[in-house]
Formats: sequence, structure tokens, C-alpha cells
Amino acid sequence: MPQLPAHRIFPTPDAASEALAAEIGDLVSTRASEGRTVVLGLATGSTPIRLYAELARLHREGLSFANVITFNLDEYLGLERDHPESYWQFMHLRLFDHIDIPPGNIHIPDGGIPDEELEGYCAGYEKAISEAGGIDLQVLGIGRNGHIGFNEPGAAPDLPTHVTELNEVTIGDAAEAFGGGANVPRRAITMGVKTILEARRVALLAFGESKAEIVRRALTPGITPQVPATYLQLHPDSTCFLDQDAATQLG
Ligand code: PGA
Repeated sequence: MPQLPAHRIFPTPDAASEALAAEIGDLVSTRASEGRTVVLGLATGSTPIRLYAELARLHREGLSFANVITFNLDEYLGLERDHPESYWQFMHLRLFDHIDIPPGNIHIPDGGIPDEELEGYCAGYEKAISEAGGIDLQVLGIGRNGHIGFNEPGAAPDLPTHVTELNEVTIGDAAEAFGGGANVPRRAITMGVKTILEARRVALLAFGESKAEIVRRALTPGITPQVPATYLQLHPDSTCFLDQDAATQLG
């Protein structure tokens, strides 16, 4: 039965990020006390920056990430790891360089894989997620067009990790970072909607007025491929962490 994601509205993006970081911190330390690993699905973009800063702060206060395994949602195709806009760079700069996660536990799709190897590479990414035990908690942002990961409008619900074409809105939103739309890669590797829905819990972060309309749509009953975030209505345990500005259009 479809059900709407839960939502929590916080006064500021910092407060929302701290709440999610606290939830993640509790999960990591509970699992550590049980001698178990925890598998996190992670996102990039401007939205989770505060979450990662808060996780780094929790680490400075004593939280260990030694039992954490991560899988990132996506990566631009054609970008090598050392490209300044690669998600590999982003994740190390914002999080991994500041915590004690073993480097071998970090998984980020490799944007440098040649075309002829991509199919096998994507299948291998899914296999690695399963072998790690499946994703316990998946962090998501949401694009203004409703994308989750690089699952753009029109995305099918039943795809695992795959290669996809970026949507014009996504290219436009990335243009500044790449010094012009013409420089934005046209393709990406992304976890599919299927991969995301298989996570045991999903936490979507959305901040600012520019997200208010798409948040309203995502939290309105009705699932459509045109707004991939509406697929979260098929997930039994998802929560949107919103600041007040992103929540202005909720009834
Ligand atoms: P943003 O991107 O965090 O930079 O707004 C969100 C997304 O596209 O998922």
C-alpha cells in the first residue's frame, strides 16, 4: 500500500541536519556496541553539506565510523576521481577526510569506467551493496525537478544501478559549478529507484524555498515517473527532514 513519507519541519537547515546526524550517530554506535557494521547510502549536492559537517563534529567528540560501510548514490560519467567536481572529491572533502571510516569501506561509482565495461560495473555495484548486507539508511536530496540520485523525470521504478542521461533542469543547476552548461557531463551512473527503495530506511533532506513546490508534490498522494521522488510513497519507512522554507507549501 502506498503511504506518504513522514516529514519533520525544523526552524533551520542546521537543525534538520543535526537531527539526521544524531539519528545516524545513534545507529552507528548501537551497531558498534553489537559488534556489527552499518551500511549508509550517501548523497552529494549542497543540501547534505551541513549533515556531513555535523557527522565530522560527532567524530571529533568520539563517535567512531570504523564499522561504517558507505555507498554513494551517483557520479557523473566521464569525470575522473581527481576532477574538482567529481563526487569522489566532494565526499572526501566534506566527510571522509574528517572521519575514521576505513578507505576500503567507501564506495562511490567510478565516473572513469569505459563504456564497454559499464554494464558489468553497475551490476558489481549492486552486488557489493547486497554483500555488505543491504543499505540500512539512505540519505537523499531532491532536485527541483523531483529527481532522487540521478533518477530523472521519466525514471522507471524497477531499475537497479544503471547509466542515465541528465535532465535539462539538472544540467542547468550544475552549470555554474562546471563553468557553463556545455561543460556539464551528459551522463551519470546512478543507483536506481529500485536500489533506493530496497534501503531499510530513507531520509530525504530538502532546504530552501526553491524546493518548496517539489516537496509539496513529493508529499502529495500520487506516484508518477515524472516526479521520481513520489516513488518514496512505495517505501515503508521514509522521512523528509525539511527546514521551514522548504515546507511553506505543505497544507
Ligand atoms: P542540491 O541538489 O542539494 O544541490 O540542491 C539536490 C539534488 O539534486 O538531489
